[in-house]
Amino acid sequence: MKSKIFSLPFLLFVFSFSHFLHGYVSSDPYLEELGHHAGYYSLPNAKSSRLFYFFFESRNNITDPVVIWLSGGPGCSSSFGLLAENGPFTLNEDLSLSRNEYSWNQVSNIIYVDQPVGTGFSSVSDTDVLRHDETGVSNDLYNFLQVFFKEHPQLVRNDFYITGESYAGHYIPALASRIHTGNKNNEGIPIKLKGIAIGNGLTNPEIQYGAYGDYALEMKLISQSDHESLNQVYVNCQGSIRECNIDGGLACASAYHVCFQILDYIKSENKDMNPYDARKKCGELMCDVNSNLEKFLNQENVRKALGVGDNVFVSCNATVYVAMIEDWMINLEVKIPTLIEDGISLLVYAGEYDLVCNWLVGNSRWVEQMNWSGQKEFGAAKTVPFMVDGKEAGVMKNHGPLIFLKVHDTHGSDGSAKGFSTNASDLDARKAR
Ligand SMILES: *[C@@H]1O[C@H](CO)[C@@H](O)[C@H](O)[C@H]1NC(C)=O
Ligand SMILES: *[C@@H]1O[C@H](CO)[C@@H](O)[C@H](O)[C@H]1NC(C)=O
Ligand SMILES: *[C@@H]1O[C@H](CO)[C@@H](O)[C@H](O)[C@H]1NC(C)=O
Ligand SMILES: *[C@@H]1O[C@H](CO)[C@@H](O)[C@H](O)[C@H]1NC(C)=O
Repeated sequence: MKSKIFSLPFLLFVFSFSHFLHGYVSSDPYLEELGHHAGYYSLPNAKSSRLFYFFFESRNNITDPVVIWLSGGPGCSSSFGLLAENGPFTLNEDLSLSRNEYSWNQVSNIIYVDQPVGTGFSSVSDTDVLRHDETGVSNDLYNFLQVFFKEHPQLVRNDFYITGESYAGHYIPALASRIHTGNKNNEGIPIKLKGIAIGNGLTNPEIQYGAYGDYALEMKLISQSDHESLNQVYVNCQGSIRECNIDGGLACASAYHVCFQILDYIKSENKDMNPYDARKKCGELMCDVNSNLEKFLNQENVRKALGVGDNVFVSCNATVYVAMIEDWMINLEVKIPTLIEDGISLLVYAGEYDLVCNWLVGNSRWVEQMNWSGQKEFGAAKTVPFMVDGKEAGVMKNHGPLIFLKVHDTHGSDGSAKGFSTNASDLDARKAR
């Protein structure tokens, strides 16, 4: 309360004065700073498409790695990652901003981008340009990065990392693979891709959909007999995912519908549950954060500060989501072995209590089962504590370029904001590789 009373005259002063000096300057210095780092890049190869982004330089050293953060959905804005998880500002309940001392830009130059086109402030006028698969998504992101590095030539030689969560478990391997190919073929500005990090991601649906029932049982969300019924549903789900990965198209839409019965069933047994944190009821967490995000970003002064014109912000866009339905059950894990064999490191991390992209068997199973030259050694590697500020924040397993990290006492999004990125030691761990 105190600080607010004292800062009021100052804010009024800035507000009234700034109107004379510039076109638009926000009355809120944090908002001002946020807006200063936001913009649009037009995509060269897609008609009328542009992607909205935030970019924050490292507070440490401009030579720090460049990191791109991708939120999931599909169709959810990366502002969620920025303002609720790991960005330089945190959105408070009263829609004010405060500084986040654990922001990833303490040690990296970080980009948050609203994608696929149509997401967040990356609105499109023409629905033809909506993306339906990872080819479209990764080409757009690759083109976006080409524009970014052209605009920031001083960052081209920096190490580069791709990070994100949830549905970004699809985007991240696809983009990494696209960059790797682009580099090999001397297509554009070479991007020094060093590593990728997937948080509570959906990467290998066949394995991960088989894990929901086991996880729900372990978390006591369902009974033993429910578990058996779910295993029966999974038999169909698994078959349809396999067909999807052979035939694509409609087989994938069908797999989506078959397999979602599993999650729907668990949710129907636990009506108020927040699927991203099995311990919390909906309303305490994500659900609230998303509506606050919309309230905040749709304020006239915020939209002006960000230069987004009349675009209305929706934190998760259903049209974009539906357009990606046939992408959902595609296995993106198959893109990873080539990357890690070529020395690009992979961190897969997961919070303990996330149902939708559950760690338990889901994420750890696909990582264990991934066919690469170090598979055996990874399987045999010891699980060791992951320490943050002298406290055990999780447990991890590592061999060569591959790390699996289970973050304690958190769901995915809290994990990236607090436990895991405290002190940004995760980035350091990857930087060291
Ligand atoms: C930034 O890092 C570079 C390379 O490690 C180093 O040479 C330079 O002194 C650093 N700059 C600052 C301001 O710390
Ligand atoms: C979602 O995106 C589509 C395509 O860009 C757009 O037409 C629609 O208005 C958006 N939905 C909302 C609720 O903003
Ligand atoms: C694993 O990958 C290697 C090399 O691509 C391949 O020869 C082998 O058949 C694969 N093994 C399995 C079990 O898929
Ligand atoms: C970050 O971690 C290092 C090493 O563990 C420690 O010395 C330092 O005090 C920590 N910094 C913060 C801001 O917690």
